[in-house]
Parts: sequence; structure tokens; C-alpha cells
Amino acid sequence: MAKTDLIFVCQSCGAISAKWQGKCDACGAWNSMAEESARPAAPGGMAAPTGKRGKTLAFSELSGTAVAPPRMMCGIGEFDRVCGGGLVPSSAVLIGGDPGVGKSTLLLQVATALAKTGKTVAYVTGEEAEAQVQDRARRLGAADAPVMLAAETDLRKILDGLRVLKPDVVIVDSIQTMWADGVESAPGTVTQVRACAHELVRYAKKSGAAVLLVGHVTKDGQIAGPRVVEHLVDAVIYFEGERGLPFRILRAVKNRFGPTDEIGVFEMKERGLEETPNPSALFLGAHGARASGAAVFAGVEGTRPVLVEIQALAAPAAYGTPRRAVVGWDSARLAMILAVLETRCGLGFGGRDVYLSVAGGLRITEPAADLAVAAALISALADEPLPEDSVAFGEVALSGDVRPAGRTELRLKEAAKLGFKTAFAPIGAESGQVSVRGIARIGDLVAVLTPR
Ligand code: TYD
Ligand code: MG
Repeated sequence: MAKTDLIFVCQSCGAISAKWQGKCDACGAWNSMAEESARPAAPGGMAAPTGKRGKTLAFSELSGTAVAPPRMMCGIGEFDRVCGGGLVPSSAVLIGGDPGVGKSTLLLQVATALAKTGKTVAYVTGEEAEAQVQDRARRLGAADAPVMLAAETDLRKILDGLRVLKPDVVIVDSIQTMWADGVESAPGTVTQVRACAHELVRYAKKSGAAVLLVGHVTKDGQIAGPRVVEHLVDAVIYFEGERGLPFRILRAVKNRFGPTDEIGVFEMKERGLEETPNPSALFLGAHGARASGAAVFAGVEGTRPVLVEIQALAAPAAYGTPRRAVVGWDSARLAMILAVLETRCGLGFGGRDVYLSVAGGLRITEPAADLAVAAALISALADEPLPEDSVAFGEVALSGDVRPAGRTELRLKEAAKLGFKTAFAPIGAESGQVSVRGIARIGDLVAVLTPR
């Protein structure tokens, strides 16, 4: 009897198994199985009952008259934009990120900014003591904001407190420290995290408050726990940054109320996070002559153009199989560009270790970066710097053709604004301010860059 009460839950993906396994069958993670209780959360134990039994469901028309309540803008432009134009009442948002990246700092700043606009904001921390949060608020210069603060991990107490306070916005830092008493697993386990998130999402929908949940992510992007609540919440936003670099990037990966390709850029300073409304300058490094292997990609993140330096190095390989290492870009995509350059243009990367890095800790996902990566690789192999003040963009096909990229005008305008004179771009791109060199095939780029 007691035996069947126990299940093993993968802490990485949430898969359930009847017996312990060293490796999860579902996601392949090692040593991720933890013993948990199979008993579900006490039915109706945490929240108020959901209305009278037997009451018939009332339907309404799609063209209905319900008016959406206005969004809550905190005034921190980078945050508001990534949320899709402010926080939506009755919504739940998961903010994920590595420990120490600055989630608590960001949310405390958001909390104080919202409180100053007249919203009632509750900040519940399960990680720090009240004094620590107050101390941080003082350091951020926002201790006078009327944020309601509580240090608590017992979800029942938190929900009871929230029902009395009736806040507009609730911040829970972090979901991994919360525990619901109907669930017999330790805080931080998949079962607890899921149960607590479920209760908090339900609270958000019923009360009309916007609930922000903080979730810690491990370095490789796998969230232990919070991953399983991604489908429960309305929006999932990641806060990313490289250790040792001051830049922090806020990125929506799921948003029921807005676009998911927007990024917000911040800089971690002595007195908290500072907005960077014009991020291009951050990711470009020093202006003027660049070393060989450095190319500038004219990219677009969401609605905003971002110029970023891409650096490549092709060093003679010491061992049989050359290394390929990538930071900030997709390694499969790098392998593809290398294969195209080797097959279509006869460039020899075979005996070389290839390293590719995107400056400033930015992660690029646009296919339009292909041409800039190719330019950096060609320049690295030839040990010839690219033409000064040039940018590149365009998608490269396996055939070697260069395909048009969207938002050409926006890219070229930003390049001109930052003083760039030349653009290597797909055929058809035109600009009055930058001299555009149309590249139809990848071979044309090789011919232009290594004329010999
Ligand atoms: P924190 O918000 O505690 O990270 P998280 O909640 O994601 O774990 O931020 C921790 C780091 O931020 C810490 O290493 C110190 C740094 N920091 C600053 O540089 N300036 C500041 O004003 C604050 C508050 C933190
Ligand atoms: Mg924290």
C-alpha cells in the first residue's frame, strides 16, 4: 500500500516513473529522478471552492462586450516592451534566469516603479529576509516606494494574506522556495513547484492581480522545476547575461499578450539595473578598424535594430578532429555555413579549429546573421580585416544563394546612423545613406573580400 504512494519524478522534465532510474527515459537527464508522493494536492484544500456544484456553465459570444482592463506600465521601458506593453491584469508571468543574474534586482525595481504609479504591489520573498530586501531597496534608491513586503514560503499563508491585501501586482521570489501544505514533497521539487504555480495562477485569474513568478534556471538552460510550469503561465520571460559582463538581456519566449521576439537590454550598475534604450553601441566594441575575423551584423531584435560584432578565429588544429566552438549562435548553423564555404567556394577549414563569438553576451537567432558569420569566417581564414565601416546581413542557403532578409530598411538606417558606410546585403536592398553591395551568391562575397 505504502509503496504505490511513491513515484519518481524527473526534476528536469517532470516525467513520472514507477521505479528509480539513473537516466530519465523522457529527456535523457542523468541522476534527475527524485522520490515524491503520488498523492495529489488536497482537493480544494488551498483555494476557496470554485462555486456551487451543479451550476450550469454560462457561455458568452466571441464578439462579446467584455472590456479588457488597462495594462499596467511600470515606466521601465525595456521591461514594459518585453511584456508586450505593460503587465496584464489576471495574468501570470514566469521570469526565469540563472541564479545571480539579477532577477530579484529587476523585479524589485519593477515593484517600486509600479508602486510609485499608485498600484498596490506585494513582494513576497522566500529567499531573503525582509531586512535584506529593504537594504537592497535603499541601495537602489527606492526605499520610499510603498511596496508591501513579506518574507514567507508557506503558500497558504501567502494566499490568505493576498486575499486581505488585494494587490494589483504580486511578485513571488522564487517559486522554488514556496511550499503548499497539501503536497508531501520538498520545496523545489517538480510536484511542489507545479502545485504552487497552479495555485498562484488560479489566484491571478480569480483576483485580477498580475502575478510574477521568479524561477531559477541552471546554466545549460534547463530549469529544474519551473520548466514544468511554462504551460501554466501566460508569459515566460528569460533574463540572460554572461558572468563578468554587465549587460543583461530580457527576452520573452512565450507571451499570450504580445510578441516574443522583443528584447530588453539592461546594464548592471552599482545602483541596480539601468536601461539601455540604444543597445547597438554596447555590442559593437570600439569603432574604426577591426581585426581580421570581425564582422558587424546588422540585426533586428523584435521591432528594434541591433548592430552587433561577430568574431571568428580559424586556428591550425592541434589534433585530428578540428574543434568548433560557438558562443551566442547556433553551432549547427555554424557547421552549415562552414560546409557551404568549403563546398561552394573551396575554402579549406578542414585542418582548422574554428571559434565564433557574438560580442557582448548577446544570443542571435536570426538566420540573417549567416552572411555576417560567413564574412567573419572568410576574413579570419584569409587573415584580412573586412572593409572598415562595413556591415553584413542575409540568409545563406545550402546552394550558396544569399536570400533576402526582412526589415532591410531598418537595418540599413541603423547602420547609417552609427556611421557605417558599406553594407554587404542580399540583392535588392537599397539605401540612400549606405553604399550597398549586393551579394547574390556566397562566392561573390569571397571574391569581394579576398580579391586575388
Ligand atoms: P540578484 O537580483 O540577487 O540575482 P537573482 O535574484 O537573479 O539571483 O542579483 C545579484 C547580483 O547583482 C549580485 O551579484 C550583485 C549584483 N548587483 C549589482 O551589481 N548592483 C546592484 O545594485 C544590485 C542590487 C545587485
Ligand atoms: Mg534572487
